[in-house]
Amino acid sequence: MIVEDKFGRPIRDLRISVTDRCNFRCSYCMPKEIFGDDYEFLPKRELLSFDEIERVSRIYSEMGVKKLRLTGGEPLLRRDLHVLIEKLNKIEGIEDIGLTTNGILLKKHGQKLFDAGLKRINVSLDALDDELFGNINDRGIGARQVLENIHHALDIGFQVKINMVVQKGLNEQEILPMARYFKQLPVTLRFIEFMDVGNDNGWNFDKVLTKKEMFSVLSEEFDLEPVDPAYYGEVAKVYKHKDANSHLGFITSVSESFCSTCTRARLSSDGRFYGCLFATKGVNVKEMLRSDMSDDDLKAELVDVWSRRNDRYSDIRTEITEEKRRERNKINMSYIGG
Ligand code: GTP
Ligand code: 5AD
Ligand code: SF4
Ligand code: SF4
Repeated sequence: MIVEDKFGRPIRDLRISVTDRCNFRCSYCMPKEIFGDDYEFLPKRELLSFDEIERVSRIYSEMGVKKLRLTGGEPLLRRDLHVLIEKLNKIEGIEDIGLTTNGILLKKHGQKLFDAGLKRINVSLDALDDELFGNINDRGIGARQVLENIHHALDIGFQVKINMVVQKGLNEQEILPMARYFKQLPVTLRFIEFMDVGNDNGWNFDKVLTKKEMFSVLSEEFDLEPVDPAYYGEVAKVYKHKDANSHLGFITSVSESFCSTCTRARLSSDGRFYGCLFATKGVNVKEMLRSDMSDDDLKAELVDVWSRRNDRYSDIRTEITEEKRRERNKINMSYIGG
């Protein structure tokens, strides 16, 4: 079954946020001023249960989803996540399961997840400098701790990508040290243009370092050649080091949007469908899952929701005035997981 949206884009990926909690407080995602000690996270009953996630993933796989990605908040904070991986791994038609994490709990949970069938992880790391990274995560956690976890994950056998969100004036000086460090490892380091996710992350165009700017810094030192996309609609533009077995990539949502090939559906931690990372309104899938709807009814509803999808925020970002952008009440990063 192929289900297409208003712009003829099929549904192929499902990103599922399994918790709104995180043990970091990155200023661009969960600033301490908002996510302080008295912040009310979702109570457990408001999160989708593992059985609910399995059911909705199975229905989506019948609609064409081949790839699942678990996100958060920090997904490793969800108890017994390996049990969910085991369930998802058994769904017919699912070819790939990934997880996006800050990495700090990989030593603790990595092996169980690997044994349950998870093979791919993307670890966020924005700097190698311990002090700077401690400031960025606002919990004083040094880069060294994340690196130890990354090495542990590589030893287990995970395929690893590193995500570095680059902000002008904050961590651009870390581009070369990060590239040097990860060149020696069998990983893909991806530089991500800072995006205006949510409403609280202090974004403006002046803080964005574009792919073009980053590439010119990197080309002074490294000899890079482009690599074909690993799959249709891959978000990153990937390059290979000519003299090493490692890759660099760029995620260019701001300077070169990729909405025309966006095949991603998202389920937020409170169980809503979103057609876009920057969407303002979701569809309450949790309510449907908890009603007496049959699988067929649910599928018909989800097909209808995808068929009506017309999101393409990154394509139109520059056309919207700053005022209009600020007025948009976008879903928060900690609910939608990137
Ligand atoms: P792979 O399966 O390894 O390619 O993972 P991924 O890059 O799709 O997922 P990941 O969670 O590692 O996301 C990396 C960055 O890309 C994050 O900053 C995400 O917010 C961003 N990203 C992922 N999908 C989209 C998208 O559809 N639109 C935009 N604008 N950004 C996206
Ligand atoms: N812009 C770009 N990427 C972001 N991420 C979180 N916030 C932003 C932002 N404002 C990244 C995280 C993580 C992934 C899920 O999204 O670093 O790697
Ligand atoms: Fe946590 Fe990732 Fe958000 Fe940082 S960016 S606060 S690690 S969810
Ligand atoms: Fe997809 Fe929205 Fe990202 Fe465009 S901005 S690629 S529509 S998630």
